[in-house]
Amino acid sequence: MSDQKEASQEERAAIPVVFVGIDDVCKQFVDAYFGSLGLSIEITDITTSDAFEKIMFEDPKPQAQAAFCGSEITGLEVAEIAQMTRGAFPESGIFYLSSQRAGFDQKFLQKQGFTDAFLIPFDKSVAHEAFEEKINTGKKVYRSISLVDVNPDDEIAFDLYMFMPMNKKHVKMVAAGNSISEDQYKRLNNYGHNSVFVDAKELGSFYEYTAEKLKNVAEDNATMSETERRQKAQKAVRSVFSRLFSTNTKGANFTEGKQIAEDLRGIVKSFLGKVDKEGYYGKLTRQLGDTNNSYSHATNVSTYGALFAVGLGIGNPEEIAMAGLLHDLGEIELPPDIVGKPYAELDAKGKAAYEKHPETSIKIIQERRLICPDIVQRIIIQHHERFNGSGYPRGLFGNGILKEAQILAIADEFDEATRWVAGRPSLGPREALESLKATFTHDPNLVGELLFLFR
Ligand SMILES: [Fe+2]
Ligand SMILES: [Fe+2]
Repeated sequence: MSDQKEASQEERAAIPVVFVGIDDVCKQFVDAYFGSLGLSIEITDITTSDAFEKIMFEDPKPQAQAAFCGSEITGLEVAEIAQMTRGAFPESGIFYLSSQRAGFDQKFLQKQGFTDAFLIPFDKSVAHEAFEEKINTGKKVYRSISLVDVNPDDEIAFDLYMFMPMNKKHVKMVAAGNSISEDQYKRLNNYGHNSVFVDAKELGSFYEYTAEKLKNVAEDNATMSETERRQKAQKAVRSVFSRLFSTNTKGANFTEGKQIAEDLRGIVKSFLGKVDKEGYYGKLTRQLGDTNNSYSHATNVSTYGALFAVGLGIGNPEEIAMAGLLHDLGEIELPPDIVGKPYAELDAKGKAAYEKHPETSIKIIQERRLICPDIVQRIIIQHHERFNGSGYPRGLFGNGILKEAQILAIADEFDEATRWVAGRPSLGPREALESLKATFTHDPNLVGELLFLFR
């Protein structure tokens, strides 16, 4: 998925922003964000408390579409910074940014009145999403979605655009509240337009739409036979994954890869919000704070695990999603000398230490009293058990391992194989599953059924 930037003939005015005591890493981050949109910024840089008070009480105040605040300003409490900045710029996005993990508490900062708070560069992708949503740059950012994601005749709650390469413009094709006709759909296909676009501000509504489709097939037992339901679920999951294996993402760059994963996450999050009757998943993600928002191995495994569960019709997607979020929690207690090293490169002592992490995850869950049903804990403890008996900690074998844990194990390895790491080619989903199959460590039937989703 790629951002399409609209070529503009006329020079755009710089976007006015205010910096309040933010560090250099964050300054560069903000600058790079606007740069990536082809925009320049006009900065009012406030570095002392005197200057802060003067500017905040000044009349008229400097204009600002956004304020970026940090802790590098002495003599001011963070609450004061939040309140005064909010008072001065009531309509603008006010963000707290820090590159220092120590003392960074997102929830506390949100409570002080900041629009949001981000740890840079860790929260980069969510920060970008929030900026896109909250900062009015007077410029639309379009994100491509695949045509197969939208059914003809479905009423959609977001505008759909088409990109005209001749004049490099996005043209509205279907307005919100309407549907793509069968005819338009065919014509687009014939012209080779398999990508359509949505305004980045409306992505949430697109996620909702896709999640609703998933929910309908995952839950409809009344009007559909089991076979029919399975086929529909497979089709829906296949379509959600379709961007991952469309040819133009082959060799896609790191940013695009992250965006695909983010979109899947958005869809699954919205889906889980609809099906999770006990609300455990939502409560857990709130307890975990920013973990859920960050692009990370845990959120990817959670996302893939839930989608695999829907596609296979096995297990409860929200339980597998919860297990995915928490499965490697225990890794935070690994001895420093083995952190970040590939398992295969560890010596016997290192391996033994690493193999404790599923149990440590459970220990931490219990100590921190995280909401985590019993079944989820069992999935977590078994996520490194393998069908052929080669896993740990107990060396369980075959169907002695929970099916849900087997799905999570596949999702775990699937993320490792498909993730975009800068400078390393990633495998496509089909290749990734083929390579998992070739290890003979997973149930061949299970991998076979998943391969069917990517045929
Ligand atoms: Fe693990
Ligand atoms: Fe993992």
